[in-house]
Amino acid sequence: MPLEQQQQPPPSPRDAESTARPRSVQDLLAELVVDGPARQVADLGAGSGPTLVEIARRSPGSRLTAVDVDEAALGRLALRLPTARIVRHDLAEPLTLAEGSLDVVVSHNTLECLADPAALLGEVARVLRPGGRAVLGHTDFDTIVVTTSDRDLARRVLRTYAELPVPYPHMAATDPQTGRRLAGLVRRGPLRLDTVHAHTTVIPTLPEALAHRLREVHTAVRRCAARGRGEVTPAEADAWCDELYAAEATGDFLFSETAFLVTAHRPA
Ligand SMILES: C[S@@+](CC[C@H](N)C(=O)[O-])C[C@H]1O[C@@H](n2cnc3c(N)ncnc32)[C@H](O)[C@@H]1O
Repeated sequence: MPLEQQQQPPPSPRDAESTARPRSVQDLLAELVVDGPARQVADLGAGSGPTLVEIARRSPGSRLTAVDVDEAALGRLALRLPTARIVRHDLAEPLTLAEGSLDVVVSHNTLECLADPAALLGEVARVLRPGGRAVLGHTDFDTIVVTTSDRDLARRVLRTYAELPVPYPHMAATDPQTGRRLAGLVRRGPLRLDTVHAHTTVIPTLPEALAHRLREVHTAVRRCAARGRGEVTPAEADAWCDELYAAEATGDFLFSETAFLVTAHRPA
């Protein structure tokens, strides 16, 4: 059955489990960014500000700059963080931030969108002060795990999603494995790699997993299937949805995805 026609599953006793949630990836990003006194911090591809909000919470004195090309997202960010400096800018172009002006640059789930992510890393090195740090994160969309009964169907659905990601506006390129490639990308550029972390988001209930990722997975895969692309038919994409609800009903449902985070610095 198409996802839009599915009833929301009723709250289950397992909903209570999700209150004991591990930290979010934004929390880990903010911890990596905030390593001491207040800083000049810029978020490249800040979106509506989920990472900057966490940084502001941990370091209220830091001066925050949000860079993104999406005006609507920046508008939402400005409401959440009225003191942040907003820079509407296409990251495919050289940054308008002054050379050596930043203590920390953070960027999450954005490098994948760029045709030349290495060029942006060159720009990051330019705008960081010597010794300044970069915290780069990316979900690896080829790491999604979902518990359903038909393993072959699940693999084909998730591979279709990974290989044919949703083309968002302003997205010049896609590589679902950007997460696992971040460290190599940094090693080949002007920054010096310091640490590599993995963060796995685990969501044990279907409604939340749908809101977080799986509704997007179904929509993208079904659209591909309707065009005869990918590894499933439209009927199989919908059958996979039925499997999600069945797994939720039997208590077997589990979702996870892994992001990789690297820290690096500009050599002095
Ligand atoms: C997947 S969202 C991630 C947003 C945010 N960093 C987060 O973690 O939720 C990717 C962001 O990169 C921005 N973006 C993509 N390509 C861009 C470009 N060429 N220039 C500036 N921003 C870009 C999008 O507008 C979007 O806000």
